[in-house]
Amino acid sequence: MKINTAEFVISNSDVSKCPAERLPEYAFIGRSNVGKSSLINMLTNHKSLAKTSGKPGKTQLINHFKINSNWFLVDLPGYGYARVSKKTKETFQKFITDYFERREQLVCAFVLIDIRHEAQKIDLEFITYLGETEVPFCIVFTKADKISRGRAEQHVAAYKKALLANNWEDMPQYFITSSEDGTGRDALLAYIDEVNQGIFDNQDFI
Ligand code: GTP
Ligand code: MG
Repeated sequence: MKINTAEFVISNSDVSKCPAERLPEYAFIGRSNVGKSSLINMLTNHKSLAKTSGKPGKTQLINHFKINSNWFLVDLPGYGYARVSKKTKETFQKFITDYFERREQLVCAFVLIDIRHEAQKIDLEFITYLGETEVPFCIVFTKADKISRGRAEQHVAAYKKALLANNWEDMPQYFITSSEDGTGRDALLAYIDEVNQGIFDNQDFI
């Protein structure tokens, strides 16, 4: 799929104020610093459409980006950032869980996992939460440029094991990506295109 236009629309912390249009949207979620905003820039071929930072906790709000005038990418704050005080943060901030529980336009969540690390409890908990909430999701391994292709495959196999041990029957659809070198861009965009086509053919969505 070709990205012709990508524009920032709105940021907010209230799901009821997200864009009202009935367009399919894809949300990026995962630990702080895993590369959510960078991946949005990589997919859209923009340097700084979504704001990124070497320090965790950069994205603080729900950010809607309209793509090709007919679907949205949504950048979300990360979870698991220890330096955010307990007062301002539950494990998963309320407005984020509100988003996943109430946003009818959400067709797929991309759960980002740093491919270098062993499976982390907080990600497995979030994946379980998505399953319980019946939100369709894919796993997106990030920062693949930091390890060899062989190591990447090993880490994916280890992740699959961790999911199975966590009561998942099978590995969900997954992608291996790098925002540094563009790995996974075509596959991720082709997946989104396929889901979009199914939706645009189905009048019920509107
Ligand atoms: P929060 O908004 O804080 O939750 O973080 P985020 O998940 O949006 O991460 P962000 O995109 O801001 O990236 C965090 C850091 O990781 C930045 O320094 C990025 O340059 C770096 N980074 C992101 N993706 C990649 C990647 O694919 N490869 C490499 N080498 N670095 C990456
Ligand atoms: Mg971010």
